[in-house]
Amino acid sequence: MTTKPPNAGLFISFEGIDGSGKSTQARLLAQTLRTRGLDVVLTREPGGSPGAEEIRELVLEGPPDRWSAETELLLFTAARRDHLERTIRPALAAGQIVICDRFADSTRMYQGLRGAGLRAKVDALHALMIGQEPDLTVLVDMEPNTGLARALARQGHEERFEAFGADLQHAMRSGFLDLAKEQPDRFVVVNGAGSIEDVAQAVFAAVMPHLP
Ligand code: ADP
Ligand code: TYD
Repeated sequence: MTTKPPNAGLFISFEGIDGSGKSTQARLLAQTLRTRGLDVVLTREPGGSPGAEEIRELVLEGPPDRWSAETELLLFTAARRDHLERTIRPALAAGQIVICDRFADSTRMYQGLRGAGLRAKVDALHALMIGQEPDLTVLVDMEPNTGLARALARQGHEERFEAFGADLQHAMRSGFLDLAKEQPDRFVVVNGAGSIEDVAQAVFAAVMPHLP
Protein backbone atom coordinates (compact mmCIF):
# COMPACT_ATOMS: atom_id res chain seq x y z
CA MET A 1 0.00 0.00 0.00
CA THR A 2 1.28 3.48 -0.87
CA THR A 3 1.54 6.00 1.95
CA LYS A 4 -0.25 9.25 1.24
CA PRO A 5 1.70 12.47 1.71
CA PRO A 6 0.45 14.37 4.80
CA ASN A 7 -1.28 17.10 2.77
CA ALA A 8 -2.83 14.91 0.08
CA GLY A 9 -6.47 15.82 0.75
CA LEU A 10 -9.28 13.32 1.03
CA PHE A 11 -11.57 12.17 -1.76
CA ILE A 12 -15.03 10.97 -0.66
CA SER A 13 -17.75 9.87 -3.08
CA PHE A 14 -21.44 9.16 -2.47
CA GLU A 15 -23.10 6.42 -4.48
CA GLY A 16 -26.49 4.77 -4.65
CA ILE A 17 -29.61 4.53 -6.79
CA ASP A 18 -31.67 7.57 -7.74
CA GLY A 19 -33.52 9.08 -4.79
CA SER A 20 -31.46 7.27 -2.14
CA GLY A 21 -30.49 10.55 -0.49
CA LYS A 22 -26.92 11.01 -1.80
CA SER A 23 -27.22 14.71 -2.61
CA THR A 24 -28.87 15.47 0.72
CA GLN A 25 -26.21 13.56 2.64
CA ALA A 26 -23.28 14.94 0.62
CA ARG A 27 -24.48 18.48 1.37
CA LEU A 28 -24.98 17.75 5.09
CA LEU A 29 -21.55 16.12 5.39
CA ALA A 30 -19.96 19.14 3.71
CA GLN A 31 -21.72 21.45 6.19
CA THR A 32 -20.66 19.36 9.19
CA LEU A 33 -17.03 19.21 8.10
CA ARG A 34 -16.96 22.96 7.35
CA THR A 35 -18.27 23.77 10.82
CA ARG A 36 -15.32 21.76 12.13
CA GLY A 37 -12.99 24.09 10.22
CA LEU A 38 -12.18 21.72 7.37
CA ASP A 39 -11.72 22.96 3.81
CA VAL A 40 -14.34 21.17 1.70
CA VAL A 41 -15.14 21.16 -2.00
CA LEU A 42 -18.65 19.81 -2.65
CA THR A 43 -19.05 18.64 -6.21
CA ARG A 44 -21.09 16.25 -8.34
CA GLU A 45 -21.16 14.03 -11.40
CA PRO A 46 -21.98 14.27 -14.15
CA GLY A 47 -20.68 17.83 -13.85
CA GLY A 48 -18.47 19.58 -11.34
CA SER A 49 -16.51 21.70 -13.86
CA PRO A 50 -17.86 24.09 -16.52
CA GLY A 51 -17.19 21.69 -19.41
CA ALA A 52 -18.56 18.68 -17.55
CA GLU A 53 -21.72 20.62 -16.64
CA GLU A 54 -22.27 21.20 -20.36
CA ILE A 55 -21.92 17.46 -20.99
CA ARG A 56 -24.37 16.88 -18.11
CA GLU A 57 -27.09 18.68 -20.05
CA LEU A 58 -26.38 16.53 -23.10
CA VAL A 59 -26.64 13.24 -21.22
CA LEU A 60 -29.46 13.97 -18.78
CA GLU A 61 -31.96 15.77 -20.96
CA GLY A 62 -33.96 14.44 -23.87
CA PRO A 63 -35.66 11.12 -24.59
CA PRO A 64 -34.34 7.87 -23.03
CA ASP A 65 -33.09 6.58 -26.41
CA ARG A 66 -31.17 9.75 -27.26
CA TRP A 67 -27.80 7.96 -26.79
CA SER A 68 -26.75 4.33 -26.86
CA ALA A 69 -25.20 2.99 -23.65
CA GLU A 70 -21.79 3.03 -25.40
CA THR A 71 -22.08 6.70 -26.39
CA GLU A 72 -23.25 7.54 -22.89
CA LEU A 73 -20.20 5.79 -21.49
CA LEU A 74 -17.95 7.99 -23.64
CA LEU A 75 -19.79 11.17 -22.63
CA PHE A 76 -19.72 10.36 -18.89
CA THR A 77 -16.03 9.50 -19.14
CA ALA A 78 -15.25 12.74 -20.99
CA ALA A 79 -17.13 14.69 -18.30
CA ARG A 80 -15.26 12.82 -15.54
CA ARG A 81 -11.87 13.46 -17.11
CA ASP A 82 -12.56 17.21 -17.26
CA HIS A 83 -13.91 17.20 -13.69
CA LEU A 84 -10.80 15.39 -12.46
CA GLU A 85 -8.38 17.68 -14.29
CA ARG A 86 -10.03 20.95 -13.41
CA THR A 87 -11.71 20.42 -10.04
CA ILE A 88 -10.85 17.23 -8.15
CA ARG A 89 -7.09 16.89 -8.60
CA PRO A 90 -6.32 20.59 -7.97
CA ALA A 91 -8.43 20.48 -4.78
CA LEU A 92 -6.74 17.30 -3.52
CA ALA A 93 -3.31 18.76 -4.32
CA ALA A 94 -4.24 21.80 -2.21
CA GLY A 95 -5.08 19.46 0.70
CA GLN A 96 -8.85 19.97 0.50
CA ILE A 97 -11.56 17.41 1.20
CA VAL A 98 -13.49 16.62 -1.99
CA ILE A 99 -17.03 15.34 -1.51
CA CYS A 100 -18.41 14.10 -4.81
CA ASP A 101 -22.05 13.18 -5.44
CA ARG A 102 -21.48 10.09 -7.68
CA PHE A 103 -18.24 9.03 -9.37
CA ALA A 104 -17.00 6.05 -11.39
CA ASP A 105 -19.06 3.42 -9.53
CA SER A 106 -22.15 5.04 -11.07
CA THR A 107 -20.77 4.36 -14.55
CA ARG A 108 -19.98 0.75 -13.53
CA MET A 109 -23.67 0.36 -12.68
CA TYR A 110 -25.66 2.68 -14.98
CA GLN A 111 -23.71 1.96 -18.16
CA GLY A 112 -22.00 -1.30 -17.16
CA LEU A 113 -25.26 -3.14 -16.46
CA ARG A 114 -27.01 -2.11 -19.66
CA GLY A 115 -25.78 -4.86 -21.97
CA ALA A 116 -23.46 -7.81 -22.48
CA GLY A 117 -19.79 -6.82 -22.47
CA LEU A 118 -20.44 -3.26 -21.33
CA ARG A 119 -18.95 -3.63 -17.86
CA ALA A 120 -15.62 -4.69 -19.40
CA LYS A 121 -15.68 -1.58 -21.63
CA VAL A 122 -16.43 0.62 -18.60
CA ASP A 123 -13.47 -0.86 -16.71
CA ALA A 124 -11.12 -0.56 -19.70
CA LEU A 125 -12.02 3.08 -20.32
CA HIS A 126 -11.71 3.87 -16.62
CA ALA A 127 -8.23 2.37 -16.52
CA LEU A 128 -7.21 4.25 -19.67
CA MET A 129 -8.68 7.67 -18.98
CA ILE A 130 -9.46 8.09 -15.27
CA GLY A 131 -7.30 5.74 -13.19
CA GLN A 132 -8.41 7.15 -9.87
CA GLU A 133 -10.73 5.91 -7.14
CA PRO A 134 -12.05 7.82 -4.15
CA ASP A 135 -10.33 7.23 -0.79
CA LEU A 136 -13.75 6.50 0.66
CA THR A 137 -17.11 5.72 -0.96
CA VAL A 138 -20.32 6.05 1.04
CA LEU A 139 -22.97 3.77 -0.48
CA VAL A 140 -26.42 4.97 0.57
CA ASP A 141 -28.40 1.74 0.29
CA MET A 142 -32.10 2.05 -0.39
CA GLU A 143 -35.05 -0.08 -1.41
CA PRO A 144 -35.66 0.90 -5.08
CA ASN A 145 -39.41 1.61 -4.89
CA THR A 146 -38.85 4.13 -2.11
CA GLY A 147 -35.91 5.69 -3.96
CA LEU A 148 -37.83 5.92 -7.21
CA ALA A 149 -40.85 7.49 -5.49
CA ARG A 150 -38.60 10.08 -3.84
CA ALA A 151 -36.78 10.80 -7.10
CA LEU A 152 -39.98 11.16 -9.14
CA ALA A 153 -41.49 13.44 -6.48
CA ARG A 154 -38.66 15.92 -7.13
CA GLN A 155 -40.03 16.56 -10.67
CA GLY A 156 -36.82 17.95 -12.16
CA HIS A 157 -35.97 18.20 -15.84
CA GLU A 158 -33.49 15.33 -15.70
CA GLU A 159 -36.06 12.54 -15.88
CA ARG A 160 -34.18 10.53 -18.54
CA PHE A 161 -32.53 8.11 -16.12
CA GLU A 162 -35.33 7.95 -13.63
CA ALA A 163 -37.61 6.90 -16.53
CA PHE A 164 -35.59 3.66 -16.85
CA GLY A 165 -37.76 2.34 -14.04
CA ALA A 166 -37.69 -0.11 -11.17
CA ASP A 167 -36.04 -3.18 -12.77
CA LEU A 168 -32.80 -1.42 -13.55
CA GLN A 169 -32.85 0.24 -10.11
CA HIS A 170 -33.14 -3.24 -8.49
CA ALA A 171 -30.20 -4.55 -10.52
CA MET A 172 -28.17 -1.50 -9.61
CA ARG A 173 -28.92 -1.76 -5.92
CA SER A 174 -27.50 -5.30 -5.83
CA GLY A 175 -24.66 -4.27 -8.12
CA PHE A 176 -23.63 -1.45 -5.78
CA LEU A 177 -23.77 -3.84 -2.79
CA ASP A 178 -21.56 -6.30 -4.71
CA LEU A 179 -19.00 -3.56 -5.41
CA ALA A 180 -18.98 -2.74 -1.69
CA LYS A 181 -18.31 -6.40 -0.85
CA GLU A 182 -15.51 -6.57 -3.42
CA GLN A 183 -13.78 -3.46 -2.06
CA PRO A 184 -14.48 -3.33 1.67
CA ASP A 185 -11.52 -1.01 2.35
CA ARG A 186 -12.95 1.73 0.16
CA PHE A 187 -16.71 1.34 0.77
CA VAL A 188 -18.96 1.96 3.73
CA VAL A 189 -22.64 1.03 3.37
CA VAL A 190 -25.17 3.24 5.11
CA ASN A 191 -28.89 2.41 5.36
CA GLY A 192 -30.74 5.24 3.60
CA ALA A 193 -34.16 4.32 4.99
CA GLY A 194 -33.93 6.26 8.26
CA SER A 195 -34.64 9.95 8.84
CA ILE A 196 -32.32 12.47 7.19
CA GLU A 197 -30.71 13.14 10.60
CA ASP A 198 -30.19 9.43 11.38
CA VAL A 199 -28.59 8.79 8.01
CA ALA A 200 -26.38 11.88 8.44
CA GLN A 201 -25.17 10.57 11.81
CA ALA A 202 -24.30 7.20 10.29
CA VAL A 203 -22.45 8.91 7.44
CA PHE A 204 -20.44 11.08 9.82
CA ALA A 205 -19.54 8.10 12.00
CA ALA A 206 -18.23 6.31 8.90
CA VAL A 207 -16.23 9.30 7.65
CA MET A 208 -14.76 10.43 10.97
CA PRO A 209 -11.93 7.85 11.17
CA HIS A 210 -10.66 9.08 7.77
CA LEU A 211 -10.49 12.78 8.63
CA PRO A 212 -7.15 14.54 8.91
P1 ADP B 1 -30.29 11.40 -4.56
O1 ADP B 1 -29.26 12.48 -4.66
O2 ADP B 1 -29.74 10.11 -4.07
O3 ADP B 1 -31.09 11.22 -5.81
P2 ADP B 1 -31.71 13.27 -2.83
O4 ADP B 1 -30.80 13.62 -1.72
O5 ADP B 1 -31.90 14.27 -3.93
O6 ADP B 1 -31.33 11.84 -3.43
O7 ADP B 1 -33.13 12.91 -2.17
C1 ADP B 1 -34.27 12.60 -2.97
C2 ADP B 1 -35.52 13.19 -2.31
O8 ADP B 1 -35.77 12.53 -1.08
C3 ADP B 1 -35.37 14.68 -1.96
O9 ADP B 1 -36.61 15.33 -2.18
C4 ADP B 1 -34.99 14.67 -0.48
O10 ADP B 1 -35.39 15.83 0.18
C5 ADP B 1 -35.70 13.43 0.03
N1 ADP B 1 -34.94 12.73 1.10
C6 ADP B 1 -33.61 12.57 1.18
N2 ADP B 1 -33.26 11.85 2.26
C7 ADP B 1 -34.42 11.51 2.87
C8 ADP B 1 -34.74 10.75 4.06
N3 ADP B 1 -33.79 10.18 4.81
N4 ADP B 1 -36.05 10.62 4.36
C9 ADP B 1 -37.01 11.17 3.60
N5 ADP B 1 -36.78 11.91 2.48
C10 ADP B 1 -35.50 12.08 2.12
P1 TYD C 1 -27.85 12.54 -10.29
O1 TYD C 1 -28.05 13.98 -10.60
O2 TYD C 1 -26.95 12.18 -9.19
O3 TYD C 1 -29.28 11.87 -10.09
P2 TYD C 1 -30.06 11.49 -8.78
O4 TYD C 1 -30.00 12.69 -7.87
O5 TYD C 1 -31.42 11.19 -9.30
O6 TYD C 1 -29.40 10.29 -8.18
O7 TYD C 1 -27.35 11.77 -11.58
C1 TYD C 1 -28.08 11.88 -12.75
C2 TYD C 1 -28.22 10.56 -13.45
O8 TYD C 1 -27.02 10.24 -14.15
C3 TYD C 1 -28.53 9.39 -12.54
O9 TYD C 1 -29.73 8.77 -12.97
C4 TYD C 1 -27.38 8.45 -12.76
C5 TYD C 1 -26.80 8.87 -14.07
N1 TYD C 1 -25.35 8.59 -14.21
C6 TYD C 1 -24.92 7.62 -15.11
O10 TYD C 1 -25.73 6.99 -15.79
N2 TYD C 1 -23.59 7.37 -15.25
C7 TYD C 1 -22.66 8.05 -14.52
O11 TYD C 1 -21.45 7.80 -14.67
C8 TYD C 1 -23.10 9.06 -13.61
C9 TYD C 1 -22.11 9.83 -12.79
C10 TYD C 1 -24.46 9.29 -13.46
